[in-house]
Amino acid sequence: MPPTSKDSQEHFVARWLNQRALHTHQYPAPGSWVQPQANHPINLASGYPFPDAIPRTALVAALSNVVAMEGDAPFQYSGSQASEGLAHWIAQRMQQSGLMIPDDALLLTQGAIQGLDLICQTVLDSRSLVLVQGPTYMEALEIFHNYTDHVVALSCDRPDQDFTEVLATYLASRKGNSPLSLLYLGTSFQNPTGLVLSAEARRTLVALARQYHFLIVEDGAYDALYFDAQIPPMKTLDIEGQVLYLGTFSKTISPGLRVGWVIGPAPLVEAMARFKKDLGNPLVTALTAKFLHDEDYDTRLDWLRAQYRMRGHLATEALQRFMPEEVCWISPRGGFFIWLRYPDRVDNTRLLETATNLGVSYVPGQYFYPYASHDNPKALRICFSYETPVRITEGIRLLSRALREQIVALP
Ligand SMILES: Cc1ncc(COP(=O)(O)O)c(C=O)c1O
Repeated sequence: MPPTSKDSQEHFVARWLNQRALHTHQYPAPGSWVQPQANHPINLASGYPFPDAIPRTALVAALSNVVAMEGDAPFQYSGSQASEGLAHWIAQRMQQSGLMIPDDALLLTQGAIQGLDLICQTVLDSRSLVLVQGPTYMEALEIFHNYTDHVVALSCDRPDQDFTEVLATYLASRKGNSPLSLLYLGTSFQNPTGLVLSAEARRTLVALARQYHFLIVEDGAYDALYFDAQIPPMKTLDIEGQVLYLGTFSKTISPGLRVGWVIGPAPLVEAMARFKKDLGNPLVTALTAKFLHDEDYDTRLDWLRAQYRMRGHLATEALQRFMPEEVCWISPRGGFFIWLRYPDRVDNTRLLETATNLGVSYVPGQYFYPYASHDNPKALRICFSYETPVRITEGIRLLSRALREQIVALP
């Protein structure tokens, strides 16, 4: 029986949770950044693909085709022939962006998130230091906090800021005993800022990893969703095997499939595979492989890029049209997100209340920083991927009204 009263719950937790779980218990619950939704607000909070971006009919057809061809196989422990080619298919695609991947360097995962979790299981212990961009993807922070308290954000939220310089200064003057394990980076169209690290910055970062002996985790979740030009992953610059790359079909097919991959040095990939006890998720990998076999993925990507480019441009136009001049943002070059910064005198709590009452949601900036940092920046993230073009414009108009009210109301 689960414990019921608060006291007995606390007793249960203290009696049974191991050190790591107890430690995690002190932090906010996963997903606590999800904002309470008023009645059907305009959703500028969630980084979801828009509803018609999910190829429902083709996915259902792919599932029937697999079953028609293979009978019970994809439903068995042993899995299906269709899924066997998936890792190879991904490796070949990655070759097009300049990455040569031996078979033992790629592991299929349940989304990029499982890949990151496996990396952490394999590499981190409770003393390890993890460096992130400040701000960074909040679910990555949730994972890091499951393993270590030592998560440090290095400032990176404006185009004129040189992240490599911030990092180099930090590394040169670093004190404390925590061994530096990894640097987690969104290299292209980062969540939440939309920023892209230049080719030169990527080269410098790889050189710093070599000099100071740490791993880089490159999160490539949005790599395929560029507006204008493809940018090769940082992993292509990695000669010594210090960069691990995370990929996913969540943004280009469907997040609910939970199919992603991690690429890294073979010994590390082998170590991660030992912790991965999902038997390769046979049904979903078979369905995904069949979908990719039957559909023209390149045409799909072209269409998605055009859709998100249109939404991104529209959002930028709406920002220019409606936002008070004290608010600044970075125009997106791909991905799903725009990071807005506003004046110090705006009260974050009141802004959120006003926006929610007006019927628009966003994610407040504080959730993109490590818990211990207590950062509560005057910034927020909006997402242009999910809503219709009309609702994106309306949502930004309402948000600008909320900001304007706060800016004017406060001395
Ligand atoms: C930067 C980043 N990485 C990873 C993910 C999650 O990927 P997956 O669904 O493949 O676990 C997201 C989703 O929002 C993301 O923004």
